[in-house]
Amino acid sequence: SALYRIAEVSTTARDLAELYPSIHAIVAHLLDAKNFYIALHDAEANWLTFPYFVDEFDSAPVPRTPKKGLTEYVLRSGQPLLATGEKLHQLAAAGELERTGSPADDWLGVPLKQGDKTFGVLAVQHYAARTRFGDRERDVLTFVSQQVANAIERKRNEEALSRSESRYRSLVQSAVVGIFRATREWRFLEVNPALAAMLGYHSPAEFLAQSAHHEVFVDPQAKATVQISFLRLGKFEGVEAQWRRKDDSLIAVRLSGRGIWDEREGTEIFEVIAEDVNERRALEDQLRQSQKMEAVGTLAGGVAHDFNNLLTVITGYTQILMEQHGQNAQSVHSLEQVFRAAERASALTRQLLAFSRRQMLRPRVIHLNSLVRNVEKMLHPLLGERIRIDLETAPDIGVVKADPGQVEHILMNLAVNARDAMPRGGTLTVATANADIGHEFRRKHPGAMPGRYVVLSVCDTGTGMSPHALAHLFEPFFTTKEPGKGTGLGLSMVYGIVKQSGGYITVESEVDAGSTFRIYLPRVEASEEVEEDEAVVATRSTGSGTILLVEDEDAVRSLVETILTSDGYKVLVAECAEAAASLCRSYESTIDVLLTDVVMPDVSGPELAKSLVAMRPGLKVIYMSGYAGEYLDGEGIAADGAGLLQKPFTAASLGEKIRQVLQQPVGR
Ligand SMILES: Nc1ncnc2c1ncn2[C@@H]1O[C@H](COP(=O)(O)OP(=O)(O)OP(=O)(O)O)[C@@H](O)[C@H]1O
Ligand SMILES: [Mg+2]
Repeated sequence: SALYRIAEVSTTARDLAELYPSIHAIVAHLLDAKNFYIALHDAEANWLTFPYFVDEFDSAPVPRTPKKGLTEYVLRSGQPLLATGEKLHQLAAAGELERTGSPADDWLGVPLKQGDKTFGVLAVQHYAARTRFGDRERDVLTFVSQQVANAIERKRNEEALSRSESRYRSLVQSAVVGIFRATREWRFLEVNPALAAMLGYHSPAEFLAQSAHHEVFVDPQAKATVQISFLRLGKFEGVEAQWRRKDDSLIAVRLSGRGIWDEREGTEIFEVIAEDVNERRALEDQLRQSQKMEAVGTLAGGVAHDFNNLLTVITGYTQILMEQHGQNAQSVHSLEQVFRAAERASALTRQLLAFSRRQMLRPRVIHLNSLVRNVEKMLHPLLGERIRIDLETAPDIGVVKADPGQVEHILMNLAVNARDAMPRGGTLTVATANADIGHEFRRKHPGAMPGRYVVLSVCDTGTGMSPHALAHLFEPFFTTKEPGKGTGLGLSMVYGIVKQSGGYITVESEVDAGSTFRIYLPRVEASEEVEEDEAVVATRSTGSGTILLVEDEDAVRSLVETILTSDGYKVLVAECAEAAASLCRSYESTIDVLLTDVVMPDVSGPELAKSLVAMRPGLKVIYMSGYAGEYLDGEGIAADGAGLLQKPFTAASLGEKIRQVLQQPVGR
């Protein structure tokens, strides 16, 4: 019955810690086992431990590498040992023993074996001469030892299994991918927390409780795809599906799984890993988006460039006609209409150019706080009384290098958009702060360069935007406003200016929850010098001098020639760089100014200027440009002292620019 009881406790005991005392109690029924211990030997590590140790005098020995004790002797020999006084002396004399612990009068130990391997020792001992252990006790203990060994082995295996199970469970529980079991009809049986979270639930339990009423698959076709692949291959890999979350939003997942036999269901079920591919999708979308913007930008820039030439011709000749028909009020009125229309067209063209990042910028080192304060004054009348304006400028922000006029433009555009989004009033918050772009930011916005920035944010409490609007708002001509109310170029321009300034723009918005635009501009060292503003006064005046005009576009060339000739200048005309060079060589008198287009088919304006200036050192240069292109930037122009005439220009601004440059001392 002792055997039976040992077998019994080996199943009822929850763990080894509970098993040992039960065994002790059973053994104590059979013999005097007041002092009882169990030693276990880990053969691999050669390490002896005493997981259970009850003794009148001693406390449990510390775990150790086996040495010469009675326990070790039993371990080595694999035989029971009844060590009475004489036997102990014999063993000690044979060098088999170096006693440790309190000297006992009797010591009885039996091996615990698995097969023929001894993995532990069961021992009893006592210190009083009154009772003696004899053969009976040895046989009894030997008799139960095998059952005890089995019980211990069994429990140890169970514990190892549950440890490894719990390791796997924690692997599944803490996995970042969704892992689940489901029937082949997609009834969810078990899910891990990641899966519950993907679907917008707090816990697996919450999801499982509701999953019967929650059809996760948006499109049943995906289920069919899984089924087909499973029937054909016994598994499915990377099947993409749309899933519906708890809040009805959708996520894209990638499912890979196989079939396993399930006891409880009595059928084959799916074991599946689900990856949330939305995150990766978002990155791909970003890339596509920026490629699209790039393409649209190139297109818009190209169109704008040609429009500039056409508009220069239209406005130029219109002005000439207005002067010629000064007496005829009727004609002047008509021409004014043409002129105004052309001006509106050039305003649009300028916005397109800004979007395509080909606008001439005049970057300077600026402090955004003072700029914001200046703009605020203009905002009040623009936004009206129902909109409150909050300024939240951080006092310690760094300086940035940007075109102040363009940054004002950005702010005005964002403010006007915000106003339109708050027809019943609200609050507009304009804030500045330092911001560092690091890894976290770049994960969401892969295009951003890491570094130190100043962020200018514009936040409104308006209508917010739909995901559709959010996806398109920077595109030129995207507008949700009524025809005539908006052109959809405002944000395109903002986007272009920010990009061209080396910055970055983000939007956050939700329907009915307002919108926040954030503009990151790179911080620069405060020491960089500030450039002077160039005031352009548009008055028409006459002058004298010789101008070499280089322009490949016929219409523009003859317009400029007409204007300059009527202003009193002598004009030499060349339609390409080569013609200009040969004129330069052959013309015998002074040439005061080279007036050249920037982008020409053979040689660029700046290249031409360089070679001509080398020929005639005093020659002054003015570039006519529709956009900055690759040849010029704001700084380049300031550096070589050349003037710049932005197309489309009027007769007045052309004359003024020529006069200005002629007045400059040579050699600047
Ligand atoms: N603050 C905002 N709140 C809500 N929607 C906005 C906001 N800013 C922009 N939008 C949306 O983005 C669209 C595009 O804006 P964008 O400034 O480019 O053009 P627009 O304002 O419609 O026209 P334009 O600025 O050329 O007069 C707007 O029509 C609007 O739908
Ligand atoms: Mg706008």
